[in-house]
Amino acid sequence: MLHQREQWSSRIGLILAVAGNAIGLGNFLRFPVQAADNGGGAFMIPYMISFILLGIPLVWVEWALGRYGGERGHGTAVAVFDYIWKKPFAKYLGILGVIIPLVVVVYYTYIESWTLIYSFFSLFDKLPDTPVSAGLKDYLKPFEEFLVSMIGANSEGMFLNPPLYTYGFFVVTLLLNLYILHRGVSAGIEKVAKFAMPAIFIMAIILLVRVLTLTSPEGRNFLDGFGFLWNPDFSALKEPKVWLAAAGQIFFTLSIGFGAILTYASYLKPKSDIALNGLASASVNEFAEVILGGSIAITASVIFFGVAATQEIASNGAFNLGFMALPAIFANIPYGQFFGFIWFLLLFFAGITSSIALMQPAIAFLEDELGFSRDKAVLTLGIFLFISAHIPIFLKGALDELDFWIGTFALVIFALLETITFVWILGKDKAWEELNKYADIKIPKVFYYILTYIAPAFLVIILGWWIFTELPSKLIPEHINGWIARGFILLTALIGIYLVKIAWEKRNGRTSA
Ligand code: ALA
Repeated sequence: MLHQREQWSSRIGLILAVAGNAIGLGNFLRFPVQAADNGGGAFMIPYMISFILLGIPLVWVEWALGRYGGERGHGTAVAVFDYIWKKPFAKYLGILGVIIPLVVVVYYTYIESWTLIYSFFSLFDKLPDTPVSAGLKDYLKPFEEFLVSMIGANSEGMFLNPPLYTYGFFVVTLLLNLYILHRGVSAGIEKVAKFAMPAIFIMAIILLVRVLTLTSPEGRNFLDGFGFLWNPDFSALKEPKVWLAAAGQIFFTLSIGFGAILTYASYLKPKSDIALNGLASASVNEFAEVILGGSIAITASVIFFGVAATQEIASNGAFNLGFMALPAIFANIPYGQFFGFIWFLLLFFAGITSSIALMQPAIAFLEDELGFSRDKAVLTLGIFLFISAHIPIFLKGALDELDFWIGTFALVIFALLETITFVWILGKDKAWEELNKYADIKIPKVFYYILTYIAPAFLVIILGWWIFTELPSKLIPEHINGWIARGFILLTALIGIYLVKIAWEKRNGRTSA
């Protein structure tokens, strides 16, 4: 071991930090859009099945791999895969667990900075006003124009041209993330989670109460919104598209297949439980997603605009519900400025507890494998992220390209690699033993079979389906910026591979000396 590794200081801090890792923009922005776009109640059945058959087992796999690495002084899949496979190539596969969160966080932090902009603009009443009018388009237009001008999408050609304040808020957001990481696992991440998680729940409850008391001139109320999300539609079980969306959401929201939970779990104290901790943090995430995330944006939008218009808003893009429909609603209710501020601050807090988690694998890699001090690791990461962020900030379409290849596709690949490593290479009985080691609950034996057979089969089916349905249309990007984004991913991967090589050469040099 190169250095004394840090540890979480309390169990509650650990659960809040891992829940904060999972609870993010995915819960409050992505989930409502996915659910509304895929038929509301129709989405919920595949979603829940995916949670049980994929979500829970894969959360346990990441926790188990993380604790396994932490016990040996390492916090990323690079060393964990190396230990388990005992084959030279395995560590190079493991670097995916550093590269995936690193690439995602490049654009994730940028979107997070928009939530900070919106919360400030709400607070100081600088968001547009919008008249209550019959047409949805007129209603949302000022907000669409605001979003377009904030990201600079109104310019011609291949470049975006955001105003200076957008850039400034991004820099502040990035610095804030880096500051927390520089404070360390327990004094930074854990402390922030202990403050931010209760704050997120309080803000969500304030908004929920407000939404529950909303009515529209046409007489719609929260029951219409709840009806849309909770009336199951069994016919949707036949739709592969809904299954893909549901499984994809489970991946994104629980942060599985990123490698970020693995890194957090590597800071467990010796002889810590993972069975109950894993389940508890996943359950907190689901509560935040389904009960809070599902009830705020969708319900408010159904009350104000109706079900059909809500589905139209969701189908028009990932940001339309959260960044256009909601502020438009707030503009037309008493104290809307305050509620808008709370909504965007909630998103910001949810975002930052996830973005620091997505940054930590790179820090752990630099510290554990290359012997960097924490400050040097944070500085290196900061320089990398600052430079890389210019790609989604200034190149049109680059954000979507990164999100498709890394935030959607690569997650499934890496989750499959993690499952193969844990269940098949370590061995299914050893894996089960590892999961149950020091456990505070008895995991039902049915999860042994889910983990060993059903979850990997489910993953292979999803991956196969994706490759056949989604990939062909994405292979050739529409724009040169798509190639640039891919070039960036490739370059990051090559740097990662090179650093792994250097780290192992150093390590072997030390062993043979
Ligand atoms: N799990 C994180 C989110 O939901 C990435 O935003």
